[in-house]
Amino acid sequence: MGEKIIILDFGGQYNQLIARRVRELGVYCEILPWNRPADQWREADLKGVILTGGPNSVYDPQSPRLEAGALESMGVPVLGICYGMQLINFLMGGQVERAAVSEYGHTELTHRGGVLFQGIPQQSVVFMNHTDYVSRPPQGFQVDAFTRACPAAAFSCPERGLYGVQFHPEVNHTQYGRQVLSNFVFGVCGCRGGYRAQDQIQAMLAAIRAQVGGGKVVAGLSGGVDSSVACVLADRALDKGQLTCVFVDHGLLRQDEARQVMDTYHKNLGLNVIHVDASQRFLDALAGVTEPERKRKIIGELFVRVFEEEARKTGAAYLLQGTIYPDRIESGMNGSATIKSHHNVGGLPKDSLFSRDRIVEPLAGLFKDEVRAVGERLGIPRAMVWRQPFPGPGLAVRCIGQLTREKLDILRRCDAIYLEELEKAGLSEKIWQSFAVLTGVNTVGVMGDGRTYAGCVALRAVTSDDAMTVEAAEIPYPVLKKCCSRIIAEVPGVNRVVYDITSKPPGTIEWE
Ligand code: XMP
Repeated sequence: MGEKIIILDFGGQYNQLIARRVRELGVYCEILPWNRPADQWREADLKGVILTGGPNSVYDPQSPRLEAGALESMGVPVLGICYGMQLINFLMGGQVERAAVSEYGHTELTHRGGVLFQGIPQQSVVFMNHTDYVSRPPQGFQVDAFTRACPAAAFSCPERGLYGVQFHPEVNHTQYGRQVLSNFVFGVCGCRGGYRAQDQIQAMLAAIRAQVGGGKVVAGLSGGVDSSVACVLADRALDKGQLTCVFVDHGLLRQDEARQVMDTYHKNLGLNVIHVDASQRFLDALAGVTEPERKRKIIGELFVRVFEEEARKTGAAYLLQGTIYPDRIESGMNGSATIKSHHNVGGLPKDSLFSRDRIVEPLAGLFKDEVRAVGERLGIPRAMVWRQPFPGPGLAVRCIGQLTREKLDILRRCDAIYLEELEKAGLSEKIWQSFAVLTGVNTVGVMGDGRTYAGCVALRAVTSDDAMTVEAAEIPYPVLKKCCSRIIAEVPGVNRVVYDITSKPPGTIEWE
């Protein structure tokens, strides 16, 4: 690899963003648990270490702490971010205190120079998220920046190669955050850059081979970009006969979806894909269930059961999934609150054939746009790489209340009309996700000369970069009107159409 940065994880919310920023600078990096012994990663190509933020207080004896002397023995520059800075301070004999009021959000920072701030205006906006602060830096450290509430918002001791910032340079809200990280990685650590997507792909292929060895793998292939990229990666990494991709038709797919997926991956890309029609099993298991998390858990478990059955047939010990980083965050895998149990993260039953170490998730550290870039490099057709995300639980999270074949058919037809009209209007590519929702509400209408009492469909379209935050797309009114009249005219069982204008937060993209 030539050069690498190690990121020691102390449980912060933005750790993967730090890794992403370092990758964007063209430098290879790895995130490791904070307590991974240094002799396992202190290799010749190590150029620097970043200590992440985290929810703890250094003066709490239970807090994750490095051994005394650990920083010096790393032998490379160390940058502490938020908790990481406080930890450096603590280990080097400074003092950390709890402030009366937390400093949170956009904050004006003034710097006094120093290598981390090279090329950055003296005053800029940074993102803060802390209550503890460095009240007395260690001896020999200089304070490089401050805010109104934080007297040491950045410090350094270049002779010892130690640097700390209280703010989060990795988040977009910090105006010159990328520059701070670039100054550390290039200016302090002396990296040269040049690590590119192709190297990233090679590293992922190597990681799959290392985990799986000569074993057999079943892979969940939904046809969405994440699972597609994961399957194509595994196909490249493994020998013929090691990989079986399983496309499960759970009866919750969109119109014509099964045929499209089989055509693309089996016929065109030559993957070993089997099509399992499990629709009746899923619908039976979901009969009468209305609670969204319950639906997700049932679907997640049944998916795993179907994969287990296929694994038994092929002798596979490993399950490959296209889980990406935001799925893990929203499923509460990072100590964060569970918003939704994404089926491929939260659903592994305790008695599963696949133990946690047999789950292969090559994309677990990537964001959607990075996955798409990998997909393009792998030569997956553009139409599939740029396909809108479709959730694993499929139409189940868009059909509110009990699921029946009849309701799902109605939803499929409305959805197809909506997507067709957006495509005709040339809007599809600008939208992150667009779909119809069967709201579960019946409304009174009048058609011909008679009263109707039928379903209400909501149309949703959102714009986003990463699905973490979204805005409702401003679909031209004539397009919406056309969708409305076509849906009501062509789909029996629907007499009202509404457009959802909720952003995320406070809403989520899917309704359930
Ligand atoms: P929400 O609704 O939480 O969705 O704003 C964020 C993104 O994740 C997709 N999504 C899922 N994807 N399994 C998946 O593979 C799931 O269980 C799941 N739930 C939501 C959703 O479509 C959006 O792109």
